[in-house]
Amino acid sequence: MDTFDTLTSEKELFSPSKEIIKNSYIEDYDKLYQYSINENEKFWDETARQLDWFKHYDKVLDYNPPFAKWFTGGKINIVHNALDRHIHTFRKNKLAIIWEGEDGKERTYTYFALYRQVNKFANVLKSFGVKKGDRVTIYLPNIPEIAICMLACAKIGAIHSVVYAGFSVDALKDRILDAKSKILITSDGAYRGGKIIELKKIADEAIKKAPVVQTVIVVKRTEHGVSMDSSRDFYYDELMKLPIASSYCKTEETDAEDPLFILYTSGTTGQPKGILHVHGGYAVGTYISSKYVFDIKDSDTYWCAADPGWITGHSYIIYGPLLNGATSLMVEGAPFYPYPDRWWKIIEKHGVNIFYTSPTAVRGAMRYGEAWPNRHNLSSLRILGSVGEPINPEVWKWYYKHIGKEHCPIMDTWWQTESGAFLITPVPTMPLKPGSCGKPFLGIDADIFDENGNSCESEKGGYLVIKKPWPSMMRTIYNDDKRYEETYFSKFGKNIYLAGDTAKRDIDGYFYVMGRIDDVIKVSGYRLGTAEIESAIITHAAVAESAAIGKPHELKGNSIKAFVVLKPGIEKSDSLMEDIRNNVGTHLGPIAKPDEIEFVDSLPKTRSGKIMRRVLKAREMGISEGDLSTIEED
Ligand code: WTA
Repeated sequence: MDTFDTLTSEKELFSPSKEIIKNSYIEDYDKLYQYSINENEKFWDETARQLDWFKHYDKVLDYNPPFAKWFTGGKINIVHNALDRHIHTFRKNKLAIIWEGEDGKERTYTYFALYRQVNKFANVLKSFGVKKGDRVTIYLPNIPEIAICMLACAKIGAIHSVVYAGFSVDALKDRILDAKSKILITSDGAYRGGKIIELKKIADEAIKKAPVVQTVIVVKRTEHGVSMDSSRDFYYDELMKLPIASSYCKTEETDAEDPLFILYTSGTTGQPKGILHVHGGYAVGTYISSKYVFDIKDSDTYWCAADPGWITGHSYIIYGPLLNGATSLMVEGAPFYPYPDRWWKIIEKHGVNIFYTSPTAVRGAMRYGEAWPNRHNLSSLRILGSVGEPINPEVWKWYYKHIGKEHCPIMDTWWQTESGAFLITPVPTMPLKPGSCGKPFLGIDADIFDENGNSCESEKGGYLVIKKPWPSMMRTIYNDDKRYEETYFSKFGKNIYLAGDTAKRDIDGYFYVMGRIDDVIKVSGYRLGTAEIESAIITHAAVAESAAIGKPHELKGNSIKAFVVLKPGIEKSDSLMEDIRNNVGTHLGPIAKPDEIEFVDSLPKTRSGKIMRRVLKAREMGISEGDLSTIEED
């Protein structure tokens, strides 16, 4: 909380061009926003009516704080809306997905082709006995099959649980066990930065520790040859050729509140939280936010450069764009490999109109310099987006100038795995302030509270809260209603959602997100928990204890620093340090490797034995450690 008042609002205002205003769905944000808050249920009702329902809902909101149900009594399936309904329109032969592999391979799917693949794979899943409500873990890289598998699960009412392909053995094992998935879909490997990540090998290791998995389906991507267990493992392409993979499968008429997916995310404790989303509300939220914030039109090529394994990929590569009948580009691999202009080349090649990425990626591009984007014709771009962490004003301006060529508004979208869809974001017609994520999205009642739950005056930092439920919000933490309530609805009561971020608002009502209040670190936009990192560190035989903190980092937003206490008699050495780092890579994933390790003799703790990461962080940054006597009482 000590970082509350350190940011100053940017005074510069960037107004949208006439072109943008002419083409935008939202003309008058203020008016529509007021309506969406004053007539909140009516607004969501009108929005939900833009989708197809098998049976119309009885009630818009059924609220038993902190648990909200939306569109109860309604029957809907997100896949019917994202796919099936388009094949009866002019979109049948329109491209749904364009995919670029890191090795230059390209594949495209029309809506009809994607529909067929999804039907076929849904039948494959059924042939393995997968039924409505069953969990399917998907551990795949950014390839079209990840979309096909997710949609196939949703089509038959099964619950997908995607695990980011950058995670490793223990992270995968924990997620399989928590979801109790009997089936795992993976690939032989994944390409990243010219290297092959051996996903099947990692999956095999994870299953040894999570023997609930009975069936493994393996997509061939790298074709480098993997070991297959004939009693358990099947190749995806072979299954798709069998008669069971017929090209029609009825879409399950799921209830609006039936679970759609679980996506695990980091929080304060080591155990990741299984964030649960449902068919109805999530469809409504991702549909309308993609439409209004990105102004997606049928002629657009839309590119969200995230990985489908994170919420950004779920909501804004797959569901949101497809619900709008858009053409969504998926790009495998590292951004600046083999050359720093890979992304700019892709924008030119596919005539990308809307481009959505993270501040870390923009900072990476900035480091290579504007000569790289300047080699390409980026004139197709109309709207840019940013997500995952605060974007520094100077990075915003670089993005605006060198990628958007000073005519593309930047949608700095603030939201979370838990929110399903955007919560605070500009819309294209809103004048922009660099470093600000704009104003609350329609229907979202956002505020900033002080310690006592009073709304903060402008320029004063506080807790970011949402005061009304919204359709795409998570329904609970999978199998843990208590943790849901405690984490998000205890500080200010059952009606107030505590987001976990600090923020402030300027005099014009623009929000500025400042940082997390919990032990979550955003590293290159990836969400990691200090407790998860620490658990991975202490799996190393030489380590007795550890504490991890986030430190501001020029490129990655934050870097990870770990303080490590070695077991008695163990010699400190550089090679041991490297070994501990690599061990984190093997257990949790390369993204979680500490950037720095410092060997220490002890860690500061409260009397009850809790590690005081705040003290370590304060020391590291050379700022006041605060009143330690009160911390001791924790
Ligand atoms: C941070 C990612 C500032 C924030 C969609 C949030 C942001 C967490 C922004 C959620 C933004 C996300 N500006 N901070 N535009 N977007 N964050 O669940 O701390 O991976 O709480 O969802 O990322 O991370 P998650």
